Amino acid sequence: MCGIFGIASTKSTRNKLYQGLMKLEYRGYDSSGISGTHISSKLSTIKATGPIKNLRTKLTSLTNITTGIAHTRWATHGEAILKNAHPHLSENISIVHNGIIENYIELKSLLKKKGYLFKSDTDSEVISHLIHMNYEKTKNMESSIISTTKKLKGSYAIGCINTNYRNTIFAACKGSPLIIGKGINENFIASDIMPILSDTKNYITLDDDEFAKITPSKISIFNANKAISKKVKTSKINTEQASLSGHKHFMHKEIYEQKSILKEMTSRYVGTNKILSNIFGPGTDKILENIDHIHFVACGTSYHASLVAKDWIEEYTTITCTAEVASEYKYKKINVLPKTLFVSISQSGETADTISSLKKALKLKYSNTLAICNVAESTLTRLSKLVFLMNAGPEISVASTKAFTSQLFTLLLLTIVISRKFGNIESRMVKDIYKINEIIDSLYKLETDIKKISTKFKNKEHTIFLGKGTSYPIALEAALKLKEISYIHASAYHSGELKHGPLALVDKKMPVVCFLPDNHLARLVLSNLAEVEARQGQTFIFTNKKIPKKNKKVEIIKMPGCPDLIAPILYIIPAQLLSYHVALKKKTDVDKPRNLAKSVTVE
Ligand code: M6R
Repeated sequence: MCGIFGIASTKSTRNKLYQGLMKLEYRGYDSSGISGTHISSKLSTIKATGPIKNLRTKLTSLTNITTGIAHTRWATHGEAILKNAHPHLSENISIVHNGIIENYIELKSLLKKKGYLFKSDTDSEVISHLIHMNYEKTKNMESSIISTTKKLKGSYAIGCINTNYRNTIFAACKGSPLIIGKGINENFIASDIMPILSDTKNYITLDDDEFAKITPSKISIFNANKAISKKVKTSKINTEQASLSGHKHFMHKEIYEQKSILKEMTSRYVGTNKILSNIFGPGTDKILENIDHIHFVACGTSYHASLVAKDWIEEYTTITCTAEVASEYKYKKINVLPKTLFVSISQSGETADTISSLKKALKLKYSNTLAICNVAESTLTRLSKLVFLMNAGPEISVASTKAFTSQLFTLLLLTIVISRKFGNIESRMVKDIYKINEIIDSLYKLETDIKKISTKFKNKEHTIFLGKGTSYPIALEAALKLKEISYIHASAYHSGELKHGPLALVDKKMPVVCFLPDNHLARLVLSNLAEVEARQGQTFIFTNKKIPKKNKKVEIIKMPGCPDLIAPILYIIPAQLLSYHVALKKKTDVDKPRNLAKSVTVE
């Protein structure tokens, strides 16, 4: 999974390639590189490990390049070391690749037999040598791209330059996204729209099995060897750059943005005592009235949001729901009963597992497909029949925060809309929604206390998170946040499950974090906590219930009282702050945790 960017131009493109690549860093930051051709047709390439900024000092050697391709890597095959950084070269040919070549081992041995020497451990390098081999036979790049892609199994978006073709980029894709930007006297390729927006809003989406020849003045698209014409779309995305606005990290900024986003979503979709009509798209109130089952599919944080939605919907309707992680859904037999809605949830809309699940769902007998997404013009939104855009603004930090609460808010709206025919509860639920905006401020006031508590996690290697009912997905999400940015192992359990095994892990060193809204389940959760305390575990309880602080091994984080319906949206916010402060204490790279990428574009 990686980001690719390229410019076909007659002007110097060195800085633009670097700046554009920066906008794709969310796709990976293990290493990066740029290849470009000089006016003299000489090929120059620079590479660096770590974040893209490490390329900066090497940029001078690209001074005269015009047309170029750039890459930011998230390592799949081959360690995150310099020799595995893209672009990969084969004499006068340079390529960048996003995806996974599943048959690279057999291709590699075939190419080795033909005398090709491999410099990297990647799957991608076979592409450069294959194109080279085919080009040597035909001296024609178009046919070389066709014969090369025919041999590749797996997924790919490829950008390629050949010094024999002045100022020309060749591009092809299958299963990995690629767009072509149409500029003035220069054209672009990119994994998403962001790097080209400062130059053009006009773009073409390259579809599976298509390839393109791009020069500064012309874009030609082919399917096999047939030239095809494709619609030029215009992006509506606002080019405003995300900035830290005084916060030390994007994660902190995004945790604080939740307040205004939820307020904005309330004013956009919620009336005095009802949800506005057809908020999921024209005619959707009628469509949703006719649903008997829902299949939710998502990954990571977005999956946790779907678990809350399943509980909400099943509580207030007779609709049955399943929630599957996308990486499993794709490989399972799925029984689709009549009147089943498929709902995919994704911040980025570019998560490969979720996209391929939606592609599978489109072939099954769902009555409709709905994508809940934050990024307009993403692959998921292009594929799904119905789309709900959360408009939470760009989420830069790898650890998802504001996307999660926006997803929960959207799913709460969905719950209310589809529960209409099951009773007269809409106005009461809407009242609860308005309470989010009243209560949310008090959560940020907990930050000072949370900062103090975070010290107690700094030297821990393991933690346990507990919840019951809709607090269980919150425990899962809180544990994920702690793991990904502080590198402390965290497991989440239904509180009632503790006694069935995990309790064996509890001793006086084990921190146990519990989310305990004062509801009908609280009594049971308290019994589970007593079991922890009896084994001298350290408990950290987020609750609005009055519970006696028996000893100094019990920390109570006093939560504001709230209706049970909105508790998941509110309880996650202090948990996000907790993981943020633990990560600060551990001095990790909060916004770009090791081994991860913002958008996982490989399966
Ligand atoms: O963009 P998506 O919502 O599809 O991403 C899904 C997961 O990769 C994502 O939520 C991931 O788990 C986050 N890093 C969690 O903070």
